[in-house]
Amino acid sequence: MGLAAGEPAGRERMMDHFEYRSGELFCEQVAVAEIASAVGTPVYVYSAATLLHHYRAIGEAFRELRPTICFSVKSLSNIHILKLLASAGSGFDVVSGGELERVRAIGADASKVVFAGVAKTDREILDALAADIGCFNVESEEEFINLSRLAESAGRKATVALRINPDVYDPQTHRYTATGKKATKFGVDIDQAEAFFDRFGHDAHAHLEGIHFHLGSPIYSAEPYVQAITKTLPVIQRLREREFPLRLLNIGGGFAADYERGRSPAAADYAEPIVPLLRDTGLSITLEPGRFIACNAGLLLTSVQYVKQSGGRKFVIVDAAMTDLIRPVLYGAQHLIYPARLPAGAEPPQRRPDYAAPEGETVDIVGGVCETSDFLATDRVLPKLARGDLAAVFSAGAYGFVMASQYNSRPRAAEVLVEGDRFRLIRRRETHDDLLAPEHEV
Ligand code: LLP
Repeated sequence: MGLAAGEPAGRERMMDHFEYRSGELFCEQVAVAEIASAVGTPVYVYSAATLLHHYRAIGEAFRELRPTICFSVKSLSNIHILKLLASAGSGFDVVSGGELERVRAIGADASKVVFAGVAKTDREILDALAADIGCFNVESEEEFINLSRLAESAGRKATVALRINPDVYDPQTHRYTATGKKATKFGVDIDQAEAFFDRFGHDAHAHLEGIHFHLGSPIYSAEPYVQAITKTLPVIQRLREREFPLRLLNIGGGFAADYERGRSPAAADYAEPIVPLLRDTGLSITLEPGRFIACNAGLLLTSVQYVKQSGGRKFVIVDAAMTDLIRPVLYGAQHLIYPARLPAGAEPPQRRPDYAAPEGETVDIVGGVCETSDFLATDRVLPKLARGDLAAVFSAGAYGFVMASQYNSRPRAAEVLVEGDRFRLIRRRETHDDLLAPEHEV
């Protein structure tokens, strides 16, 4: 099932449960064309087996540390997906009251919920205190003071980790998604961590018990984590010597996924150099993977509306757009796009965005939004596509639907979850009434 031949056990590269059988694209045991006929397009299709595989792979790789895995809700926030992961034991990383509401809606174990974000409002903090979440990842002095005040007024105790900037980064991470460098809005400088503990480490309402960092996303090697941990452990050591009760370390998310098969490290490649550093520290470790679990577990299925030639370029115009998947436009992200049904006798594509179909034609795949920048891919060599054909945008499970907008008053797509030979709608397609309701209701 998409596993590279000869991979040693425990070191599988990314895999997924999307594959072509006799020229038809399947998700697990379901032909994606069947999903399109049932619910229409555009539709996000997720594989439960792929989600669970990656959730387990990361837990397995780090098992010696017995980490708490807090799936990063921002990457894929559908409550049915959250429920699936919660039932496998996952905790959750949230960054807003809305995400907190999602994990509350599924009855997630609040002790495994961590709450980051630089702009937490009083309402969000009070809701999180009432929910008794596991940890607030605090990003500034003012936020800490506010949290302590609110905890006191609510008669609650908050567990807090200080988010620090270890000032390391992965040169392969897009500048928009690199967060662990010095000059970012996230966290406080690592050099200020001790002063922060001096000032707030004995607060009666907000208990500062840990350190959190998140380096960026995606991070294509273990090296930045190793550097960040190596910089952070001496700080923790010094704080402990001074009797601050430090017991939590959250090393964030950022573990990469395969937009191109074979590019990303396996879970074990990250864990191998990280685990020995943390093994004997007595720290309780949290990981916040989002993309690693969700990315390869989802694709966006779209139908060709029209094909046209203009100014020497050929455009395949599809019913999905930048409003459904903004990553290509926002980050120059490359997602493999390929027909869901192959021409007779054609081979399945290799899983890389620049894969050129033999005897294919060069096209841009664009949506219907009134922006020149509305594309899903440019200069792709694809088998001939015609009006009505289905195409799949691969590796779209993470930061796909969650970043969708309604620009041009386009209702957002449906979402479907496949489990074995069954599939079910987990979010109905939005309607025009959904778009207008908040305006009619005033
Ligand atoms: N923890 C924190 C504090 C984060 O800010 C993030 C992501 C994660 C965990 C999860 O990172 P992951 O494991 O998914 O890489 N929209 C961008 C990605 C933005 C990530 C923001 N923070 C994209 O489409 O690539």
